[in-house]
Amino acid sequence: MKPSWIHVVKGRTARQARVGTIGTFHEELFGRAGFVGPTAMLYHGASPSELLRVEGDTRVRVGTVTQLATSDLDDARGDFEPLLVNSDLKIGISRRCVPMPYCYRNAVGDLLYFVHRGTGVFATEFGPIDYEPGDYILLPRGTTFRHLPADAEGIFYVVESRLPVRFTEHAQIGRHAPFDPAIITIPDVKDYGWPAQDEWELRVKHSAGHTSLFLSNCPIDLVGWKGDLFPFKINIRDIIPIMSDRIHLAPTAWCTFETDTALIVTFLPQTAVTDLTAEELPSNHRNIDCDEAVFIHADKMRPDGILLHLPQAIMHGSKQGDRDAFQATRTTSMRRELTGVSVDAFEPLQPTDAFRNIAGG
Ligand SMILES: [Fe+2]
Repeated sequence: MKPSWIHVVKGRTARQARVGTIGTFHEELFGRAGFVGPTAMLYHGASPSELLRVEGDTRVRVGTVTQLATSDLDDARGDFEPLLVNSDLKIGISRRCVPMPYCYRNAVGDLLYFVHRGTGVFATEFGPIDYEPGDYILLPRGTTFRHLPADAEGIFYVVESRLPVRFTEHAQIGRHAPFDPAIITIPDVKDYGWPAQDEWELRVKHSAGHTSLFLSNCPIDLVGWKGDLFPFKINIRDIIPIMSDRIHLAPTAWCTFETDTALIVTFLPQTAVTDLTAEELPSNHRNIDCDEAVFIHADKMRPDGILLHLPQAIMHGSKQGDRDAFQATRTTSMRRELTGVSVDAFEPLQPTDAFRNIAGG
């Protein structure tokens, strides 16, 4: 979507949107393509977020995933549980705590794991990737691996993307922010020393289901590899968020990964806006071109392990009472504490029955 350089001002508006507006304006961001397309800041006479009720199926849904009964919770042949899906994405939760006794290959899409809880290793053909909470692990479509959890605590926010997942390039700030690209962990080949077997099962996931191939040799047996297609990990502690102490940046500033039809944004603790007349809370916005699937990894304000679905065209933002209460306690030294991952999908996401069950319908 090409930007337009035609900007028009009608009626009474703030000199700069989001800045010096507290107590004076009720702003709503109306924009295309998430936050990067053509946009208008709308100035309401009253708060636009005072939702009384919804009649219809499309609504904000919130569910806690920490007790979700995924099929991979106690069955090594189970899979992650899709909660929000469209034609390009399956977004869900894995609670795998039983090691895969087979080798695995996903032919449906790239797999991006975000580790909410648990430790273990993805034993890939490229080499082992040890994991801990806060890790993103990207397994390109077709990578052969075994997921070997080390404990029973594992909770993983999983994005299966038909389209390749790549890093977002924040081109105008150079190569060393929001992280130094050299910080990613790329596996090196390893002889895992697994005992000899008469046959090795390679379990392949296609869109129609799983198929098992039985091989005489272990498919994870590389003695070397080279190229620019490989699995890797990065921990969110190594992401240094782009920030401003004068304006609440649009979430695209915190985008870590993207596909042609989705953004994957990492929310991290950071300095809050210090100008007490500028908005610190997110804009009221109606998200007309994307659905958001926001996973809460850690937050002082609420329990962890919450998944929120914020659909297109449904306003979200804080109610005026919450904004007023926040403003009353706000200080110039305040920090944001939320850690989370948001998948912003350009095609609508449909809630699955599993998500409806934990979200109350
Ligand atoms: Fe949003």
